[in-house]
Amino acid sequence: MSSGPSVAVIGGTGFVGLNISDAFLTDFRTSFSRVRILTRDAGTPKAQGLAYKGAELFQVDEDDVHSSLDAAFADIDVIVNTLPTTVSDRLNHDVLRAVARSGAKVYFLSEFMADHRHLSSPGFGFEPAEWQRRRALAREARRSFRGKVIALYTSLFFELAMAHPVLGFDIANNEFTAYGSPAQRVSFTSLRDIGRAVARLAILSAAPPAHAPAPARADGSTGEAAAAVPDDVRIAGATVTFEDVRDIVARVRGVAPARIRTADLRAKRAMLGIPGVPLHEYIRVAMAEGKLDLGEANDNELVNPGGSLWTWRSVEDFVRGQFPTRRNE
Ligand SMILES: NC(=O)c1ccc[n+]([C@@H]2O[C@H](COP(=O)([O-])OP(=O)(O)OC[C@H]3O[C@@H](n4cnc5c(N)ncnc54)[C@H](OP(=O)(O)O)[C@@H]3O)[C@@H](O)[C@H]2O)c1
Repeated sequence: MSSGPSVAVIGGTGFVGLNISDAFLTDFRTSFSRVRILTRDAGTPKAQGLAYKGAELFQVDEDDVHSSLDAAFADIDVIVNTLPTTVSDRLNHDVLRAVARSGAKVYFLSEFMADHRHLSSPGFGFEPAEWQRRRALAREARRSFRGKVIALYTSLFFELAMAHPVLGFDIANNEFTAYGSPAQRVSFTSLRDIGRAVARLAILSAAPPAHAPAPARADGSTGEAAAAVPDDVRIAGATVTFEDVRDIVARVRGVAPARIRTADLRAKRAMLGIPGVPLHEYIRVAMAEGKLDLGEANDNELVNPGGSLWTWRSVEDFVRGQFPTRRNE
């Protein structure tokens, strides 16, 4: 058994959580002494699938969350929260209080989205309440927990942003609509790579600080890196423009390059702040303003130095994996 840190994943059976659990249980398994997945029902196929891969399942008692979380976090070094935003404030605070009571060294906030700290602009009449709620939870965690609190901002997910036309990429129908310039760069990351990044950050941040230079380990960690993990980490698997995506789709799928439609950015920006405007409209304006371009301002080198641990999934990989070519249809 590994002598590495122990980890618990809350919500580890979910859309994002399953990929994080999977990284801990497969590629990075030997770096962790224990991988515990918290679930409300250990009998589901997803939970059982994780158990089959070696996870220790912990069924949370919803009638006694307080004691249940204390038991789940006993002997755990790293706690990863991947609960959805739809959970109650009460559960969010129960989790934070249990994290604060625990002896863990590292806590990951449930972020895994674009870096909302930098998305607002004068054009935004107000901020979505969701972003304010997340920042309040981050403040609370950093105030109450004596260990390290990490927020991992992951750009947009390929699996959502490019699988549905809501952000302007309708790959299935070869149709694209940009707000503002189609040459504006936007960053994306795959769910698989988000899982790997969390595992790497867990290794780096739970490692004891080294007093002398430590040799690189098989998982790429060194003692010095522990101190170098920032509280807010940003990753970007691929950074591309609408034009790049259009050209990749044409090449991979064997279709004619589409004409990219554009919408007036100023008019779209002016709509923000009207009650009921959906979150994706804020995201599309932020995309157009360059605020989701993490091509340079990212921590990719920290989590995956020189791409030596894995190859980041590209748009081309995603399109090949998700969409059949016209030639074969
Ligand atoms: N960047 C993006 O585009 C993007 C997209 C999606 C999500 N995210 C972020 O990723 C994080 C995780 O979201 P997600 O969509 O992956 O979550 P999810 O799949 O909806 O839920 C994760 C797990 O949490 C547990 N859970 C769900 N509702 C619960 C409740 N009411 N009480 C207690 N446990 C509950 C479930 O596990 P059990 O049933 O096993 O208990 C579920 O499998 C969030 O911060 C979210 O905003 C970002």
